[in-house]
Amino acid sequence: MKNNEIIEKIIKERRNVRTFSNKKVSKKITSKIIEMGIWAPNHRMTEPWRFRVIQKNSEKRLLISKKIEKYIKKNSNNSNSETVQKIADKVKTEFEACPLIIYVSSLVGKSEEETLENYSSTSIAIQNMSLYAWSVGIGIGWSTGKPIKVKELKKIIEVPNSSIIAGCLYMGYIEKKSVIIKKSRTNHLKKTIWN
Ligand SMILES: Cc1cc2nc3c(=O)[nH]c(=O)nc-3n(C[C@H](O)[C@H](O)[C@H](O)COP(=O)(O)O)c2cc1C
Repeated sequence: MKNNEIIEKIIKERRNVRTFSNKKVSKKITSKIIEMGIWAPNHRMTEPWRFRVIQKNSEKRLLISKKIEKYIKKNSNNSNSETVQKIADKVKTEFEACPLIIYVSSLVGKSEEETLENYSSTSIAIQNMSLYAWSVGIGIGWSTGKPIKVKELKKIIEVPNSSIIAGCLYMGYIEKKSVIIKKSRTNHLKKTIWN
C-alpha cells in the first residue's frame, strides 16, 4: 500500500470506541501513543497538552469513579432513584473496567486567542493519538461527559484550575471491529465553497 492509501485507510476507519478487550495496554505502547500526540502543530510552540494516565485499579481511578457516581445522582433529571442508581452503576463499572484512561488537558494562554489556539492544538494531539492507536489495534473513546465534570477532578489529577480538560480518553484493545458502529460523513463537497 502507498503512504497516501495507508493514511486514508486509518483516517476513515478510526472510530470512537468504548468496548474493549481485557488485554492490558502496556506502558511502552501508552507512552508511544502519547508521543505521537505531541507532534501536533502548535502556534508559538506553546506545547499546551498535558497527559494524566489513570491506570486500572489505581487509587485515582477508584476515587474518580466514586465521584462520577455522586455526580450522576446529584445531577440526574430522572425522578426514579432505582433507574438513576442503575445508570450510575453502569457508568462507574465502565470507567473502572476500562483498560486505560488518559485525561488530556490544555494550558491557558497569555490571551484568549492563545488559549483557543492551545485548545485547538490539544485536540489535534488527541486525534494524532487516536490515529496511531488505531493503527496498532487500540481504540479510543473521547469523552467530554461525566468523567470530566466530576467535582474536584482537576485537583485529583493535578491539573491547574485554569487549564481546560479537553477530554477523558477511554482506551483499550479493540475486541471485534465488526461490532463497531459504522459512521458516515456528509459529502465534503456539500461543506465546501470553491471560488
Ligand atoms: C470534543 C469531543 C467530545 C466528545 N465527547 C463525547 C462524549 O462525551 N461521549 C461520547 O459518547 N462521545 C463523545 N465524542 C465522540 C463523538 O461522539 C464521535 O466522534 C462522533 O460520534 C463521530 O464518530 P467517530 O469518531 O467514530 O467517527 C466526542 C468527540 C469529540 C471530538
